[in-house]
Amino acid sequence: MASVPSLASTVQQRLAEGLSAALPEAGSADPLLRRSDRADFQANGILALAKQLKGNPRELAAKVVDAIPANDVLKEIEVSGPGFLNITITDEAIVRTLAARAADDRLGVPLNEAAGTTVIDYAQPNVAKEMHVGHLRSAVIGAAMVEILEFTGETVVRRHHIGDWGTQFGMLIQYLIEHPHELDHKAGGADAETSGAEAMSNLNRLYKASRALFDSDEEFKTRARARVVDLQAGDEQTLALWQRFVDESKIYFYSVFEKLGMDVRDPDIVGESGYNDMLQETCRILEESGVAVRSEGALCVFFDDIKGPDGNPVPLIVQKSDGGFGYAATDLSAIRDRVQNLKASALLYVVDVRQSLHFKMVFETARRAGWLNDEVKAHQLAFGTVLGKDGKPFKTREGETVRLQDLLDEAIDRATAVVEEKKEKAGLSDEEVVENGRYVGIGAVKYADLSTSAVRDYKFDLDQMVSLNGDTSVYLQYAYARIRSILRKAGDAKPVAHPELELAPAERAMGLHLDQFGATLAEVAEEYAPHKLTAYLYQLSTHLTTFYDQCPVLKADTDEQRENRLFLIDLTARTLHQGMALLGIRTPERL
Ligand code: ARG
Repeated sequence: MASVPSLASTVQQRLAEGLSAALPEAGSADPLLRRSDRADFQANGILALAKQLKGNPRELAAKVVDAIPANDVLKEIEVSGPGFLNITITDEAIVRTLAARAADDRLGVPLNEAAGTTVIDYAQPNVAKEMHVGHLRSAVIGAAMVEILEFTGETVVRRHHIGDWGTQFGMLIQYLIEHPHELDHKAGGADAETSGAEAMSNLNRLYKASRALFDSDEEFKTRARARVVDLQAGDEQTLALWQRFVDESKIYFYSVFEKLGMDVRDPDIVGESGYNDMLQETCRILEESGVAVRSEGALCVFFDDIKGPDGNPVPLIVQKSDGGFGYAATDLSAIRDRVQNLKASALLYVVDVRQSLHFKMVFETARRAGWLNDEVKAHQLAFGTVLGKDGKPFKTREGETVRLQDLLDEAIDRATAVVEEKKEKAGLSDEEVVENGRYVGIGAVKYADLSTSAVRDYKFDLDQMVSLNGDTSVYLQYAYARIRSILRKAGDAKPVAHPELELAPAERAMGLHLDQFGATLAEVAEEYAPHKLTAYLYQLSTHLTTFYDQCPVLKADTDEQRENRLFLIDLTARTLHQGMALLGIRTPERL
C-alpha cells in the first residue's frame, strides 16, 4: 500500500512554498488551485492576497513565479488576466504519477488519517410488510456509503433498523393463534426467490385478514390488544409467534437483497425490538436531566423552532401518556447504544427525507442529553421520493406498492434484451447473456438511485436507465468491457508506462482525471455524496470516448506509444472497476 499524492496536491504545495518564499508577510495563504480549461490548473489566490497586502496582483504573481525553483512537475507557470496563475504540468509528471498509482492495489488512494467508527443505519424494511422503492433506495445508497467509507479506512458498523415492533403485532399474533396454519410453506425446497415471494404473499394475506377482523370484530380487537400487553411483558408463546413473523419476513428481505447482489448479514439486523431493554432507562435519564418533561401525561421534549400550523410547539414524544413507547424512544436508545457500546464517532442514517423532522428532533434531544457532541456527530443522509414516469410517487396503476421483485425482474428483462442485441459482436455465450443481463439490470437500478443527489426526487424510468448513451451504468460497463477487449486483443503488447513520451491532449485530459480518483473519493466520503462518484466515473468514460477518437491504441505509431496507451486504458479500467465496485455495481469482462 503506497499512497500517491495527486498532481493537484503537489502543485498546490509548490505554489504554497513559492508564496511564502516570495511574500513571507502573507503567512500561509491558500493559492486556491482549480482545474482549468486554459491550462491544467489555475490559481486565483493571489488576487485576494494582493488586496490584503495592498500590492499590485500581477506584480505579486510574477514574484511568486520567480520564487518557485525549476522542477520536473511544473512545465509552465504564466501570469494571466488580473493576476491569475495558469499552470501546465509536464507530460512526464503525469505519466510518472499514474505509474505510481498503477503499481498500487488501491490505485494510490490514501487512507483517511482521521478515520473513526461510523454506524450506518440503512436497508431497514418493516416486518410483515412489502418492501417499497424507498427501502430499495436506502439499501442501495447505504451499501455504497459502507463500501466507500471502508475503502477510506473508516471502521463501519452496519445497522438494519427494521420495523419489527409495535402494536400491529398484537393483531397479527392473535390472528395467527386463531389460524395456526397461515404461515406454513407449501412449496418445499424451493429456491430463495420463490420462498421469498411465498413468504411475502403469506404475510400479506395474513396482514390483510387480521386487519379486516380487527376493524370489524370488537372482541377480536380486545383479544389483539391484550396480546400486545403479553408481547411487551415477554410472554413466551407470544414472543415465539412474533419471532415467526420476523423470520418469515427475513426470508423475504434476504431474497430481495440477494437479487440486488447485496450482502446483508444477520447480526447487523438489529430492529426496533433490539432496544426494548433500554427504553425505560432512556426515559428516566431524559426526565431526570430535565431534557424531557411530562406534558398531559406524556414525556415530551420541546424545541423553540419547531411549531405546528397553529403556532403551538410540536414536541418529540418519548413516552405516550398510556406508558407506551414509540419510534422516538427506540431511536434515542439506539443512539445511546451506538455511541456508548459501539463507540461510534459518527452516526449516519440513510432515511427518507420525509422523516427529517423526526431526526432533527431526535438528534437535538441526544445533543441535549450529551450523547451527541463535538466528538460524535449524527447525520441524516436524506433521500427524496422515487417517482413514476408521471411524476407522482411510484405506484402500480391500481395505486398499490410496486412489488420489488417484479420491478427488479423487469429491469433485468430489459437489460437482457439490450445485452442480447450485442451478443454476437461481443461473442457472448447464452450463460453470459443471462449473467450480464442481471449485472446490467441491477446496475441500472442502483446507478439511477445513486447518480442524482440523494435528497432530490427522481423518476424511475427503465428505458432511460438501460440506455447505452448518456449517464447510465451500462455506458460505464461498456467502457470497461471495451478496454478489457482491447487488452485481450493486444496479445504480446503489454501496458507499460513511458514517461518520456509526449502526450496527446486527450491522453493528458484523461490522465489528469485519473489522478483525481483519490481526491474525489475523499470528498465523497466526507460529504456522504455518492453521486459525486458516479459523476466522476461518467466523466472518466467520456474522456475515454474522446481518447478513442483521437488516439489509436493497437494501431499506435510506435511500440512505446502502444504500450503507453495500453497502460492508460488499463489504469482507466481499474479505476472504473474499483469505483463501480464501491457503488455495488458489477463490471462484466465482456459485454
Ligand atoms: N423502518 C423505517 C421505515 O420503513 C425506517 C427506519 C429508519 N431508521 C431509523 N433508525 N429510524 O420507514
